[in-house]
Amino acid sequence: MTIQISPSILNADFAHLADEAAAVSPSADWLHVDVMDNHFVPNLTLGLPVVESLLKATDTPLDCHLMIEEPDRWAPAYAEAGAGSVTIHAKAAGAPVRTLREIRRLGARAGLALNPGEAVEPYADLIGEMDMLLLMTVEPGFGGQKFLDMVLPKIRRARELLDSRDASVWLQVDGGVSAETIERAAEAGADVFVAGSAVYGAQDPAGAVESLRSLAAEASGRK
Ligand code: DX5
Ligand code: ZN
Repeated sequence: MTIQISPSILNADFAHLADEAAAVSPSADWLHVDVMDNHFVPNLTLGLPVVESLLKATDTPLDCHLMIEEPDRWAPAYAEAGAGSVTIHAKAAGAPVRTLREIRRLGARAGLALNPGEAVEPYADLIGEMDMLLLMTVEPGFGGQKFLDMVLPKIRRARELLDSRDASVWLQVDGGVSAETIERAAEAGADVFVAGSAVYGAQDPAGAVESLRSLAAEASGRK
């Protein structure tokens, strides 16, 4: 598995999203889009209409992270619109198997997300239903928070679990990923890295993506 970097536009200028997407498009593997509904998390961002516009404005595939209640109801529309990846939160989903299957049927990669305090083991039997497991390394809701080292043992356990069941499932981390923390997450076994403030807070966002990629590749021994 290669290292992939998914810059989060949560920390970008929302009035110029097409330009912000272009600023990382030479180097980013994905564009991470944080959908928040002010119920599942205490913050409100954007929804399907903005995603539909963004899809027309960039060729970089969209990695939609749905921090919303009732993902069973809302997630399929993001896949149908053309998002490359759609991730739902396990504890918000009433019928995760049905929703993950529906996301896949509509042509997107299906992701399942766990908050820092949620164990991975109860979801072991869902591994065959997902293309990516997202382990939050902050409590979801806001950019610019500090990376939680307490999640590192879970990243290791998740990597072992995935390797023993289906090594093709990607392991994403999201929250506080920066040049200071990415090596720890990569060494523990993550291979897809969301970075918001570390990319959009940099003078050269595309350069920041490349630096993060080489740090992760070096630390994980993967290229
Ligand atoms: C937080 C979001 C993240 C956020 C990451 O709830 O899911 O994607 O944008 O931002 P940083 O990298 O600044 O922690
Ligand atoms: Zn996110």
